[in-house]
Amino acid sequence: MSRPHPVQVIAVSGGKGGVGKSNVSVNLGIALAEKGRRVVLLDADLGLANIDVLLGITASRNLQDVLNGDCELRDVLVNGPGGIKIVPASSGTQRMTQLSPMEHAGLINAFSEIGDQIDVLIVDTAAGISESVVSFLRASQELLLVVCDEPTSITDAYALIKLMNRDYGTNRFRILANQVKTDQEGRQLFEKLTRVTERFLDVALQYVGIVPYDEMVKKAVQRQKAVLEAYPRAKASTAIRALAEKVDNWPLPTSPRGHLEFFVERLVEV
Ligand SMILES: Nc1ncnc2c1ncn2[C@@H]1O[C@H](COP(=O)(O)OP(=O)(O)OP(=O)(O)O)[C@@H](O)[C@H]1O
Ligand SMILES: [Mg+2]
Repeated sequence: MSRPHPVQVIAVSGGKGGVGKSNVSVNLGIALAEKGRRVVLLDADLGLANIDVLLGITASRNLQDVLNGDCELRDVLVNGPGGIKIVPASSGTQRMTQLSPMEHAGLINAFSEIGDQIDVLIVDTAAGISESVVSFLRASQELLLVVCDEPTSITDAYALIKLMNRDYGTNRFRILANQVKTDQEGRQLFEKLTRVTERFLDVALQYVGIVPYDEMVKKAVQRQKAVLEAYPRAKASTAIRALAEKVDNWPLPTSPRGHLEFFVERLVEV
């Protein structure tokens, strides 16, 4: 058997709602696709402003149909902007830890089939630290936490880091400051967060920079378009491209952790 193809699995999370997780997920995906990566975006949020609403996509099938054995994962993939593929949200994403053995096996099979055709899997999680969110986080090899300069965003991110560290021993987190005005503001936000984590936890936070507050993001959301496509030269788009450049340089997984099969196995582990 050939060695499984390494896939970079990045969960985009942050604790607090509305910080910009979905916008970062979609646009980072497009920016990586621009660099030639084959990107799949898994919408793991059943909430209101999820990927399909954000991009005006109507999906006729979702992961639940795969779990039910009604179709293959490739039938569920929707073509998104910039050549990315999207796995639409489904009620199945809420109960990943309660799958039947049949569903369990079906899911592993489903993902193994597309493993060779993708380079990056981006998981856009829901807000909060529900069991479902945690199951996606512990299965992913990179955790990209989106924070913004509000006390609740910092405390929620801290709560998420603490839980993942305590329950799963996760000690590496990437921090992105969104909706800040300047680089300096982003840096300060990162320092606020590290001050509390360093004091109470044994974790390493890695700063990945900022996406500035940009009205063009709001305009794009209103038009149900990704800002990177609608306004490629907007400040936010430039920042996302810089982020993609860094993400593309993150070391590629060499351990089993870096394979899609591992992701799915961890995902459904009780
Ligand atoms: N860089 C930015 N500049 C300006 N506005 C932004 C920026 N990022 C996000 N927003 C605004 O915040 C809103 C919420 O963004 P998004 O839906 O990506 O957040 P989320 O964290 O995924 O929310 P939820 O927790 O509900 O899933 C967007 O509709 C947009 O109006
Ligand atoms: Mg969202």
